[in-house]
Amino acid sequence: MDLERLKDIPLFLVRDQPFMSTFLLVLGALSVARIVYQTLSVLLQIFVLPGKNVKQFGANRGAWAVVTGASDGIGKEFAFQLAKAGFNVLLVARNKVLLQATASDIAKKYPGVSTETHSIDFAKGDEAAYQGLAMVLNDRDIGVLVNNVGKSHAMPAYLVDTPKEEMIDIVAINVNATLRVTYAVLPGMVERKRGLILNIGSFAGGLPSPMLATYSGTKAFLATFTSALAEEVKSHNIIVEHVNTYFVVSKLSKIRKSSALIPQPGPYVRSVLSKIGLACGAGYSGRPGTSTPYWSHALLDYAMTLIGLPSVFISYTHGLHKSIRKRALKKQEREAKRQ
Ligand SMILES: NC(=O)c1ccc[n+]([C@@H]2O[C@H](COP(=O)([O-])OP(=O)(O)OC[C@H]3O[C@@H](n4cnc5c(N)ncnc54)[C@H](OP(=O)(O)O)[C@@H]3O)[C@@H](O)[C@H]2O)c1
Repeated sequence: MDLERLKDIPLFLVRDQPFMSTFLLVLGALSVARIVYQTLSVLLQIFVLPGKNVKQFGANRGAWAVVTGASDGIGKEFAFQLAKAGFNVLLVARNKVLLQATASDIAKKYPGVSTETHSIDFAKGDEAAYQGLAMVLNDRDIGVLVNNVGKSHAMPAYLVDTPKEEMIDIVAINVNATLRVTYAVLPGMVERKRGLILNIGSFAGGLPSPMLATYSGTKAFLATFTSALAEEVKSHNIIVEHVNTYFVVSKLSKIRKSSALIPQPGPYVRSVLSKIGLACGAGYSGRPGTSTPYWSHALLDYAMTLIGLPSVFISYTHGLHKSIRKRALKKQEREAKRQ
């Protein structure tokens, strides 16, 4: 500001009206205090406070954990860590061989737990297949459900350039599978008055992501669905949590090397299971039922909440995705020439 113009500030407001100056001072102090309080509470949740113990959902008492997309990546890690906690595990995905291999690795490592597998292709949305899965789920004491299965775009693309099948599959897998599996599992949890449902979401759900519009929209669905359902069932002692996730090393992310911001599935899943019921980085984001538990994802989420300005982040993401698409198309061209 031009120093000369400071003279124009109506100083009489401060000098002649002590009430006004005190009011402004208190308002400023309250705003600073609020930010300090929020930041301390977020840091405490991320680094100090323990979440609810996952074992309270029936571990070592015969309860099952059901994990969708359990043959690889994050889902496979959930299956291992829930078995370690003392749950029997039901692994759900398409590839029977991978499912069996994962189940027998779990059985070898944790001989005290039972494992079962169920093969289903959620992209097909086949009614008979869903009924088959419901029969496997019914009459089983399910303590934990991890709606982990997910599909993203093969590469960033504008909606008009997105293959129709890809668009349809993403909705079938990310939205319909979560709804149908939850719908099959929930009545039993209500009856037993105990349950934990984790819906694995993405930053792309909170921050609209151009060129991944379908994926982004389906992950936003998970956040809203979780908030609504969590309120519906909390009186039945059931926790429903939307787990907000930045990048994790996996086939889906196409990232092979971990870093501070991009963990391996192991530490990522450990953070989820150790922070149940704590919002961590999603605190104060206006998304009840959402948790961002992994420490660096949590700090990023909280920083984005503090900064605000979503349109700046959306535009940045758009630019990033344009360049990722360019590189992906070039790689495709090179590979086509090689063949
Ligand atoms: N990795 C990340 O950076 C990241 C970031 C944000 C959110 N997430 C979310 O985390 C979740 C897990 O992702 P991930 O990275 O672990 O993925 P991933 O490594 O690609 O694993 C996906 C799992 O889902 C199964 N699956 C895929 N399509 C299926 C279908 N049509 N029907 C049944 N099962 C199917 C796969 O097994 P089969 O091939 O045998 O079926 C596999 O077990 C997803 O919801 C994803 O959106 C991941």
